[in-house]
Amino acid sequence: MRRAKITIIGAGNVGATCAHWCAAGELGDVVLLDIPQTEDMPKGKALDLMQASPIMGFDSNLVGTADYDDTRGSDVVVVTAGIARKPGMSRDDLLSTNAKIVGSVSEQIKQSSPEAVVIVVSNPLDAMVQRALQVTGFPPNRVIGQAGVLDTARYRAFLAMELGVSVEDISALLMGGHGDTMVPMPSCTSVGGIPIAQLLDSARLDEIVERTRKGGAEIVSLLKTGSAYYAPAAATAQMVEAIVRDKKRLIPCAAYCDQEYGVGGYYVGVPVVLGSGGVERIVELQLTERETADFQKSVQAVKELVASMEQLVNG
Ligand code: APR
Repeated sequence: MRRAKITIIGAGNVGATCAHWCAAGELGDVVLLDIPQTEDMPKGKALDLMQASPIMGFDSNLVGTADYDDTRGSDVVVVTAGIARKPGMSRDDLLSTNAKIVGSVSEQIKQSSPEAVVIVVSNPLDAMVQRALQVTGFPPNRVIGQAGVLDTARYRAFLAMELGVSVEDISALLMGGHGDTMVPMPSCTSVGGIPIAQLLDSARLDEIVERTRKGGAEIVSLLKTGSAYYAPAAATAQMVEAIVRDKKRLIPCAAYCDQEYGVGGYYVGVPVVLGSGGVERIVELQLTERETADFQKSVQAVKELVASMEQLVNG
């Protein structure tokens, strides 16, 4: 069987960690690309990972490069290029710089891997994935944002810590934008099949939701020199796996919603079926009144973010 080719653009913390998870999971061969100014850094990281493979027992070829020729014909391209958030910066502060970077990277992807499924990780996510769609011109099911898997994982981890149970038994869903307006779905949260409302009072659940919303900022304030990368990279690798193994995972991703949920052509976090075709289906749930209101608020925040980005990009 032919191995999948996975390109990761941006060989910084998120990109290199994602390469690590993808290689260790034998999801395919990995090309790690960064800008020429970083000289041989991606080559060094790829070689280092390659040398870990005989010890850890994984079979994946890893190549580091600054040349898009090496990425040609990728099945999946992950975009982590950009600057990371520092303390005091919101994701939106990154907007201008990262919009330019994601725009130029998307031009290259369009040329070198026209059939790829693109997963955007760079922040502010909901705007960067829209930018990647605009510039690549790929069908929207092949341009996806990583946010929901990470946000849901944070929520699941906090719930497991609170309840003293295994993270494996927490099943949950979050929707909306990847920011302070993300929408928790208590109706879709259960622990070993038991609805969360039977295990936790709503005030405490609200506090956990609030911590989840600020989950990225909490890590930034602890790290001080950058933003989270283990969990974002793991979330991305799970999406890569769903695509290269055609797993049809039902997980939340930032997907392009037009008629769906009445969004009107923007990326928001919704449950999707993820397989070799990218987003193969968007699952439309019946939302409660509160969930609908929160979701609409989140969509509005995404629209405003995209409008600011377009203003910056179009001068
Ligand atoms: N092409 C390729 N790589 C680029 C480009 C470009 N045009 N511009 C910047 N990069 C690279 C940088 O050289 C750097 O190695 O992107 C990498 C980013 O790495 P880090 O600074 O370590 O940032 P990281 O923590 O990986 O976050 C990357 O993911 O989660 C998001 O908010 C986060 O937007 C940020 C992105």
